[in-house]
Amino acid sequence: MAGKLMHAVQYDHYGGGTAGLKHVEVPVPTPKKYEVLLKVEAASLNPVDWKMQKGMLRPILPSKFPYIPGTIMARVDLSKVTDVAGEVVEVGFGVKKFKSGDKVVAYLSPFSGGGLAKFAVAKENLTVPRPPEVSAAEATGLPVAGLTAHQALTQLAGVKLDGSGPRKNLLITAASGGVGHYAVQLAKLGNTHVTATCGARNLDFVKGLGADEVLDYKTPDGAALKSPSGQKYDAVIHCATGTRFSAFEPNLSPTGKVIELTPSFGSFMTSAAKKLTCSKKKLVPLFAVPKGENLDYLVQLVKEGKLKTIIDSKHPLSKAEEAWARSMDGHATGKIIVEP
Ligand SMILES: NC(=O)c1ccc[n+]([C@@H]2O[C@H](COP(=O)([O-])OP(=O)(O)OC[C@H]3O[C@@H](n4cnc5c(N)ncnc54)[C@H](OP(=O)(O)O)[C@@H]3O)[C@@H](O)[C@H]2O)c1
Repeated sequence: MAGKLMHAVQYDHYGGGTAGLKHVEVPVPTPKKYEVLLKVEAASLNPVDWKMQKGMLRPILPSKFPYIPGTIMARVDLSKVTDVAGEVVEVGFGVKKFKSGDKVVAYLSPFSGGGLAKFAVAKENLTVPRPPEVSAAEATGLPVAGLTAHQALTQLAGVKLDGSGPRKNLLITAASGGVGHYAVQLAKLGNTHVTATCGARNLDFVKGLGADEVLDYKTPDGAALKSPSGQKYDAVIHCATGTRFSAFEPNLSPTGKVIELTPSFGSFMTSAAKKLTCSKKKLVPLFAVPKGENLDYLVQLVKEGKLKTIIDSKHPLSKAEEAWARSMDGHATGKIIVEP
């Protein structure tokens, strides 16, 4: 593919929203050692993609402009999206697990991004096979959102997804969103009682994902985050933003913890204060650490029909701005997909 050009969407400065995205023709990337080149079939957007563009993660990310977004695995110079599903078309030196023609899903490092493009380069260790039962669109929802939900539940909330382990009472906020809709489904594979929050239009949808109780976040009861049946939460998977720890505290079990997906400066202060005072109730900021074996596990669950990717909307790469605007709007139900 060396020397060939491809269509990609990138931005070259902070800010600008959809107007900052540019459609460009750039060279198809070449896979280096332990990398594979993918023909992208679908990419999914995550809020981190536009947050990086806004400069909310500066000076760490983006590490370089121009940046191609996207949650498939790609590389610098392309779009910064990190989640992709596609077909292997070339392998770099040392790649053992994959060959041309293999269908896969991959998590692209946010330092390189590259999902909003026709081709993307992924690290072998963050690429996993995609069986024929799992479509590219279903698979590409999994890397950031699915792995974050998995990490929050298994590592931080202590839920065992095989159903063993003690019963946990959970609250999952923004259960209709990318992370939340996976979190509810995964939580219900374990021994859990799930209270979930979402908007009125999604109450039935979230109940259908398996939540035991659902609260409309715009009602007084929803804002109070109180379980209708009086459950005290062992853990809160807090996917929504802007709620202070004090709002959760009365509803936590004596050793309950709030797992904060979008920690603010104030959250870090609260977290430190809870540690210093040896509080049994905790606030734990979460930073997703993607692992290939966990992505593989999620793909298998989708294959077995135990986990679904709900697709909010699909957009062609030529109209990536529409997908970007939809994500920035913050009202997606499930995942926003871009198809080249
Ligand atoms: N720390 C990490 O490593 C990590 C990893 C992944 C994601 N995140 C962060 O986690 C957050 C969630 O990500 P996401 O992909 O799930 O977002 P998303 O898909 O954009 O979430 C959208 C959904 O959230 C619902 N929502 C918004 N405010 C709500 C509230 N106060 N209560 C209940 N529901 C609410 C919306 O419902 P309505 O339309 O009805 O308002 C919508 O369905 C983002 O801030 C993201 O950056 C962090």
